[in-house]
Amino acid sequence: MTATLTKPAWDFEYETQLLDRLVAQHAPNLPVVDRSETRPPETPEEIKNIGQYRVFAAAHDLFIVQAIAKAIGPIIDDPHWQLILSRQLGDDGVHALDSVLRARELLGYDPIDEVNQLIQAQWDDLGDLPIRDWFGFAAFQLHYELHNVAPFLLNGKVGRIKDPETSSYFADKVIPDEAVHRYAVIDWWKERYDAASVDEKAELAAKLLEVDNEFQRRRSANLKNNYWHKGYLAAGIDDIEEIGDIYDAWRREDLSYLLDIPIDQLPPLVSVHDDA
Ligand SMILES: [Fe+2]
Ligand SMILES: [Fe+2]
Repeated sequence: MTATLTKPAWDFEYETQLLDRLVAQHAPNLPVVDRSETRPPETPEEIKNIGQYRVFAAAHDLFIVQAIAKAIGPIIDDPHWQLILSRQLGDDGVHALDSVLRARELLGYDPIDEVNQLIQAQWDDLGDLPIRDWFGFAAFQLHYELHNVAPFLLNGKVGRIKDPETSSYFADKVIPDEAVHRYAVIDWWKERYDAASVDEKAELAAKLLEVDNEFQRRRSANLKNNYWHKGYLAAGIDDIEEIGDIYDAWRREDLSYLLDIPIDQLPPLVSVHDDA
């Protein structure tokens, strides 16, 4: 394992360049659409699909709230990181609330029972892994805040149907908040990793990779069946065939960056395709 002494900051510019590079590599013919080519939902089916997507988004965000609430104290006892997590909890709670309210407008009923079922399904898949210990919580934060970013950004690039309320809320609130969340997760990991000795780093890296892979195994079906599928339906597009390859490649980049291990020296990772 080779420590990289100077590396670029993981910021908006870094992410943009990374996504462009991965798209060029894995999906050079991705049918990117200009914002002027998009339109609001028109048919009852299109409106329902966006409503269902917001129901799922609410379940994603409220699951984060539940996991962080359980971790503050037992797993995260440092008041500095408790403060940072409190902000994330508050932001993701507001995202969940907005999703429920918009879904209610679009669907014409209160979807809270469906939100609850979708949250329960995540706990059923993941078990206690997100709150099992420090590493489980680290894997949870990486999977929920960082590893899933590329497919989310790609949907925005190729989607043909956009709900104006959802788009403006995402642009003004969700996207800036989520950037803060994932940069904080990176800082939190780095604080511990950068202070470790060479031997401790090797142990930390091996442990994180093991738990991150376990998380991937438990989450792949949900990513494909819900996150991506519902996203496509809402955006009025067919399957993005290369999404799994881009997801895997982005996750490799995340882990390579966090562990200071060059991509070609990382061990093989569990792929989102493995659970097919
Ligand atoms: Fe969120
Ligand atoms: Fe978040």
